[in-house]
Amino acid sequence: DIPVITIDGPTASGKGTLADEVAHALGYIVLDSGALYRTAGLAAFHAGVSLDDGPAVAQIAATLDLHFRKGRAILQGEDITDLLREEATGLMASQVAAHPEVRQALHQLQLDFRRLPGLVADGRDMGTAVFPDAPLKVFLTASAQTRAERRYKQLIDKGISANMESLRSDLEARDARDKGRAASPLKPAQDAQLLDNSGQTIEESKALVLEWWQS
Ligand code: CDP
Repeated sequence: DIPVITIDGPTASGKGTLADEVAHALGYIVLDSGALYRTAGLAAFHAGVSLDDGPAVAQIAATLDLHFRKGRAILQGEDITDLLREEATGLMASQVAAHPEVRQALHQLQLDFRRLPGLVADGRDMGTAVFPDAPLKVFLTASAQTRAERRYKQLIDKGISANMESLRSDLEARDARDKGRAASPLKPAQDAQLLDNSGQTIEESKALVLEWWQS
């Protein structure tokens, strides 16, 4: 049995950072499932396929020519690492993620990330749909204000100009879509540990998750 820890939560809650830290501490592999949805959105957009066309996007998602090399994401020979993190790409991801066919197309790909010594999987439905048997499921939240501030800082650090008000309304709109969709809506698994990290440092969150894992 390959151990799996799932970390789900809304946008900019710090899932990615927490997943990386926990995986690093345990020597585990990370699955950033959001990156797969982002890639599917980008690939469909580049192919000129309407993001509303579930079956067509699913076809593209099922045959993604995606590789990870030295921490870079390569789609059909093109380095899309920076493009993947853009807010516009997050919106495309959230659009294609609403189609059950697209979620189905990415399901097995996500299961294939399981490798020894273990996996930390971050996303929206890791604990509810993809790894429902995971022994530790974390549902990470933070206030909308905290999340908007974090996203703002990330962008400014990268030299990208940003507007706090529009960031906050973008992330609230994306959360509403992720929660409201019929296919694997964003919600905690019944047996998830709830963690609000608004007032916490990453070190504190990490320590708590490792404590849960060891107990
Ligand atoms: O980094 P951020 O939290 O903003 O986004 P992400 O985790 O990369 O996910 C981007 C979008 O993909 C989300 O808004 C979801 O709509 C979708 N997604 C999903 O539906 N299921 C997942 N397991 C991961 C992401």
